[in-house]
Amino acid sequence: MSLLKRLGSRPPEESGGGGTGASESSTSEAAPLHLLLIEDNMGEARLLREMLAEIPGTPFHLTHVDRLSAALKRLDSQTFDLILSDLTLPDSDGMETFLGLHAHSPEIPIVVLSGLDDVRLAVRAVQQGAQDYLFKGQVMPLDLVRALYAAIEQHKVQREQARQAQPGPSGKLVACLGAKGGMGTTTVALNLAAAQAGHQSTLAVELRYSLGSFALQLQQTPLLTLNELLTSAAPRLTERELRQRVVRLPSGVGVLFGPQKVGDCTALEPKQVTALLPLLKGMAQCVVMDVEYSPTQATQTVLQGCDLVLLIVEPEPVAVAASRAMLEFLATWGISGSLVAAVILNRAAASGALKPHEVQAHLGCPLLGIVPPAVELCMMATRQGVPLVLGQPTHIAAQSLIEVANKLRADALLPLKL
Ligand SMILES: Nc1ncnc2c1ncn2[C@@H]1O[C@H](COP(=O)(O)OP(=O)(O)OP(=O)(O)O)[C@@H](O)[C@H]1O
Ligand SMILES: [Mg+2]
Repeated sequence: MSLLKRLGSRPPEESGGGGTGASESSTSEAAPLHLLLIEDNMGEARLLREMLAEIPGTPFHLTHVDRLSAALKRLDSQTFDLILSDLTLPDSDGMETFLGLHAHSPEIPIVVLSGLDDVRLAVRAVQQGAQDYLFKGQVMPLDLVRALYAAIEQHKVQREQARQAQPGPSGKLVACLGAKGGMGTTTVALNLAAAQAGHQSTLAVELRYSLGSFALQLQQTPLLTLNELLTSAAPRLTERELRQRVVRLPSGVGVLFGPQKVGDCTALEPKQVTALLPLLKGMAQCVVMDVEYSPTQATQTVLQGCDLVLLIVEPEPVAVAASRAMLEFLATWGISGSLVAAVILNRAAASGALKPHEVQAHLGCPLLGIVPPAVELCMMATRQGVPLVLGQPTHIAAQSLIEVANKLRADALLPLKL
């Protein structure tokens, strides 16, 4: 397989206007190498572009900016395979330039462009994490291309080695789902997250396209939401962007909020959702998601990416029938067997309520718990913004939620031991 093919093709990206002095060029090949060139000397920049164009069959897409600030702006909105940077720029000088770029985008390899007179600086940049340096005006076209590909491959190997040396949490993803609205899905998701937090790093994620209720139940006013990152118009999703949006509660639970205004309610983009799941897994040992169902590819992607789909069911005939239909539908997505379980949430002690064994017989999936009615306590929990398991941990409803949380503990998942 050729090196280019191994680098992987990417969908053609529109790189809009942007930074001061930005210009772009590319060959017409299908899988171009995306380079960000930071160079304030227009002559040098032109030379490099011409040099790359000279090499037959080498696809590239060059974005040129002349300032560090413009480069950082570009890096926020576009994906690049490599940064080629001069260190002396109008708004940044020397190591400051390299360190600024490296801190901003550690996932992108950097090759420094050096003059013959500042080779020491270039070497220091390599010591600090740059992949290589090239002498301006001294490099031959084929050497340039070889250096660029070698830098990308070397960087990939280094990242993989670093990842293996320091494995982050490989979190378990649990999706709480209701076959219809108002069954207590959000209540369960927030309580499970709160109950996990004393044992492991935990995130509660509100994955919705319509208005969320995490903020109400937690008495929070999030400034940034997850949804801004999950639409087709959003830039490339990064862990940094996600972390910026995490609100840390006193319990230790990190929370990512869904839409807060009707105007923010937009369809989720499957590509963004696909990128989201591994990032979430790297951020916490346990990720509890409040997932809103819709028959879309984005929902399918989320649910198929989870370790467990937890269906929240009220023990009344309509809710149970809807849940059964939901389970049958999930099975068509390959989500069945040990990937699904249910929690009965009995919001009202109605006389016609089905018995747990009847609910289980209808559903045909494992039952992780039965939460009894706790109307007053739930209202109080919402008023105080504190989940039941933290505010009233000895109450029987809280106890049942804690029991479910215990069953979900990372080491009990996969296969689910009931
Ligand atoms: N065990 C319980 N007993 C009584 N009421 C409860 C219980 N659990 C949750 N509730 C209440 O039920 C209502 C609906 O809960 P919640 O918002 O969690 O449901 P949901 O399924 O997420 O709803 P939506 O479809 O709007 O997202 C809330 O007022 C909540 O306080
Ligand atoms: Mg809800």
